[in-house]
Amino acid sequence: MSSPAESGPTNEPGSEPLVRVRNLKKYFNQDSGLLSGISFDSSQFPPIDVGQQRVKAVDDVDFEIRRGETLGLVGESGCGKSTLGRTLLRLLKPTEGTIDFKGEDLAEMTGEELRQKRSDIQMIFQDPQASLDPRMKVGKIVEEPMQAHGMLDGEGREQRAKELLEKVGLDPHHYNRYPHAFSGGQRQRVNLARALSVDPEFIVCDEPVSALDVSIQAQVLNTMEELQEEFGLTYLFIAHDLSVIRHISDRVAVMYLGNIVELADKEELFENPQHPYTRALLDSIPVPDPRERDARGVLEGEVPSPVNPPSGCRFRTRCPRLIAPEGYEWTDEEWAHTRTFMRSVKRRTFEPMPAGELRQEFFGGDLPHGEAGEIVTEAIDLVATDHDDSEEHDEDHDDWEEARELLLESFARESICATERPAYEIQPEYGTDTHFAACHLHR
Ligand SMILES: Nc1ncnc2c1ncn2[C@@H]1O[C@H](COP(=O)(O)OP(=O)(O)OP(=O)(O)O)[C@@H](O)[C@H]1O
Ligand code: SF4
Ligand SMILES: [Mg+2]
Repeated sequence: MSSPAESGPTNEPGSEPLVRVRNLKKYFNQDSGLLSGISFDSSQFPPIDVGQQRVKAVDDVDFEIRRGETLGLVGESGCGKSTLGRTLLRLLKPTEGTIDFKGEDLAEMTGEELRQKRSDIQMIFQDPQASLDPRMKVGKIVEEPMQAHGMLDGEGREQRAKELLEKVGLDPHHYNRYPHAFSGGQRQRVNLARALSVDPEFIVCDEPVSALDVSIQAQVLNTMEELQEEFGLTYLFIAHDLSVIRHISDRVAVMYLGNIVELADKEELFENPQHPYTRALLDSIPVPDPRERDARGVLEGEVPSPVNPPSGCRFRTRCPRLIAPEGYEWTDEEWAHTRTFMRSVKRRTFEPMPAGELRQEFFGGDLPHGEAGEIVTEAIDLVATDHDDSEEHDEDHDDWEEARELLLESFARESICATERPAYEIQPEYGTDTHFAACHLHR
C-alpha cells in the first residue's frame, strides 16, 4: 500500500498493532565443523574448552507491525532478516522475548496450539522454484495447506484454489499444470495463492521478488498490494533492494548485525534518514553515472561477526561519525582528524612514511592538544618509517598492531558509541509517525 489515499477506509493501515515484538532474541549454536567452538586453554586439563559459541542472529529487537500495513525490513546479507521473519512465524524457537500476535504470545506456544495458529500467519520465500514441489499439480499445491488445516471438502478446496489462482493473476484453467510449465513470476503467484488459501492475516514475505527479472518484479509487487487491500493482509516484507522496499512499504525498519537500527515511516526514512548506517545504505544505491558514484559515501570495512558483536552501537566499527570520547579536550576538527587516522591505521590503508609526513597528511601539521595529542604522537611514531626501532622486541612484535590497539583502546572504546547501547525517538520531518534511531548523535 503505497499511498493511504488509494486504500479503502476499511483497510487503511491503522495504528493498532497486529504483532508486537519485545526483546526478541534468536541465537544459534555454532555447530559447523568438528572443531568449531573448541578452544585451547593450557591452564586447564584437558587443555580444551568445548564452550559453544553462539551466533547472535537476532539480538534484542523491539517493534510493532500494524494491522493492514507493510513493514519493510532491509539490511545487508547476514544481518538477521530471515531469522527474524522465521522466528516471528515460529518456524524457529526464540531464545528470548515475546511475540504478541492478537493478544497471544507466539513465543510460548508449542505443538498443536502453534499448528492451529499457522493458518493465521504464512510465509513466502525467495525462490519460487524450490518452494514448489515439481511433482504436484499447482491446484493441489494451493490446496495442500487447506487440507492440512481441515478446511472445506475436496470440491470446496478445488473451487477455492481456482478462485485464488485467478485472484493472483493466473488462469484458473491451469489448475492441472505442473510448476515447470510456469515462469518464475507465475510460480511466485502460485506461492501467493497457496499462502492465501488458509485465509491468513499476516504474511512474512522473505525476498519474494529478488529472484525475478526487474520487469516482472513490479507486476508481482502490484498484485501483492492488490491482494493486501482485498484480503486485509498485513505484510512483513524483507528485501535487501531499497527500490523494492520503497515501492511496497508503509514503514521501514533497517537492520544491522542483529539489531534494528532505524524505523520510520517510508517517506521519513528515505528523505530524512538519521542513522549513519541507513545513510550509507541509501548512498550505496548504485547510480548509473560513474562520476556521481565516486562522490558518494561507501560502507567501509567488514561487518563484524555476529558471534562477538561490538559493544554499545553495533555499527561503531564502521561508523564514519563515531562520537569523540569524553575526557579529552577535542575540537571537532581534531577529533575528525584523529578518527580518520585511527581508521586508516586499523585498516592499514596508507603506505609507511616518516612521522612528519604522517602529521601533515592526517592532521594538516597540527596534532590535537594535551593528552590526546600525546597518544596520537605515540601512535604516529609506531607506524612511521623514521621510527626508532632500537628497543628490544620479540620476533613477532607488530608496531601497526600496537598503534592500532593504542588508538582503539584510548579513543574508540571510550566513546559513548562503545559504552552505551543507543535507542532514541526523534522528531520526524515528514508526517507525524514516530521515528526511531539507534544512534547517540540524537542523545
Ligand atoms: N540455522 C543456522 N545456524 C547457525 N547460524 C545461522 C543459521 N541461520 C542463520 N544463521 C546465521 O545468522 C545470521 C543471520 O542470518 P540470516 O539468514 O537471518 O540473514 P539475512 O539478513 O536473511 O541474510 P540474506 O540477506 O543473505 O538472506 C548469519 O550470520 C547466519 O550465518
Ligand atoms: S551511535 Fe555512534 S557509532 Fe553508532 S551510529 Fe551513532 S555515531 Fe555511529
Ligand atoms: Mg535472508
